[in-house]
Amino acid sequence: MKIAHVGRYGPPEVIEFREVPTPEPAAGQVRIQVLATAVTAGDWRVRSGVMPRGFGPLRGLALGFGGPRKPVLGTDAAGVVAALGAGVTGFRVGEPVVAFPGGGFGGHAESLLMPADGRVVRKPENLTFEEAAALPFGAMTALDFLDRGAVKAHERVLVNGASGNVGSAAVQLARHLGAHVTAVCSAANAALVRSLGADEVIDYALTDFAAGEVRYDAIVDTVGNAPYARVKSVLSPGGRLLAVLADLPALLGAAFVGGPQRHRVIAGPAGEKVETLRAIADLAAKGVLVPVIEQRYPFERLVDAYRIVDSGRKKGSVVVTLDPRAATR
Ligand SMILES: NC(=O)c1ccc[n+]([C@@H]2O[C@H](COP(=O)([O-])OP(=O)(O)OC[C@H]3O[C@@H](n4cnc5c(N)ncnc54)[C@H](OP(=O)(O)O)[C@@H]3O)[C@@H](O)[C@H]2O)c1
Repeated sequence: MKIAHVGRYGPPEVIEFREVPTPEPAAGQVRIQVLATAVTAGDWRVRSGVMPRGFGPLRGLALGFGGPRKPVLGTDAAGVVAALGAGVTGFRVGEPVVAFPGGGFGGHAESLLMPADGRVVRKPENLTFEEAAALPFGAMTALDFLDRGAVKAHERVLVNGASGNVGSAAVQLARHLGAHVTAVCSAANAALVRSLGADEVIDYALTDFAAGEVRYDAIVDTVGNAPYARVKSVLSPGGRLLAVLADLPALLGAAFVGGPQRHRVIAGPAGEKVETLRAIADLAAKGVLVPVIEQRYPFERLVDAYRIVDSGRKKGSVVVTLDPRAATR
């Protein structure tokens, strides 16, 4: 099978395609033939080795010394079950699935092994494999943070970076929870975020939401430029900052936020539970959660897909296809 191998940290060009034997699933595993995958901010971070501020000295321990410990990246995959390891009963060969290897990676390959009781669920029938592959990273993160922030109906939620992968899912999920959603994005993406359910849109080039009069019960920051010190004056009493992208000072400072306003900062890695994947697949099946795809590239053009992700300006997901069936349901 073909894999995209990242042997050292660096620009997209560090990727090398290699042929390796197709792995056999061990007991309790399934082998998925990957029809579509995505290039996510998580893949970008590990490939580039660029760490959030303050985390640099921890890179070797966290990701690997000299290069990624897991050289085949790919947090997301959609495909069909190709083989079952001993004892697997929950899947059948040929079944369409969506998987979130997440921090385990491995989606940038023609085959992916996953524990059958891990983050692999049946693909929603209404989604193509491309659409399914676009879903997990952003939606898993958004749902986990909204959950941890206990966002509920009638609250005012602001999503900073609303057109990105995490942001586009956060807008849809917050709206689904019954919140009033303000999306912060560039003017070019205003129509997109409105179509996802944003009640109001702020163009960050024109308006600094943190200097405004409106207060929010929850602020989802996917950009990393809305630390607590900047946004505390626009958080309601009891308000939560959901710092999806937090640097080390922000992470360490989170424990000390509180005071008479009862503010909270929620930061750190998003959970990677199979229940969350199941929940987002259900929401996608109901049409509540619609994957946003910026562009599609064939596997051979993975480097070009990464270039879009490296820009930090992508809309939703960049999807990579490995098989013509990727465009089918
Ligand atoms: N804590 C965790 O476990 C976790 C999990 C997932 C992701 N993350 C982190 O979260 C970050 C976002 O991930 P993602 O997948 O959503 O990234 P993404 O898809 O690349 O989205 C980035 C978005 O940020 C927007 N943006 C750039 N500058 C902005 C600004 N000044 N104000 C508002 N929006 C701005 C861009 O929109 P415009 O083009 O409109 O500017 C773009 O849509 C990444 O750094 C990732 O590492 C953390």
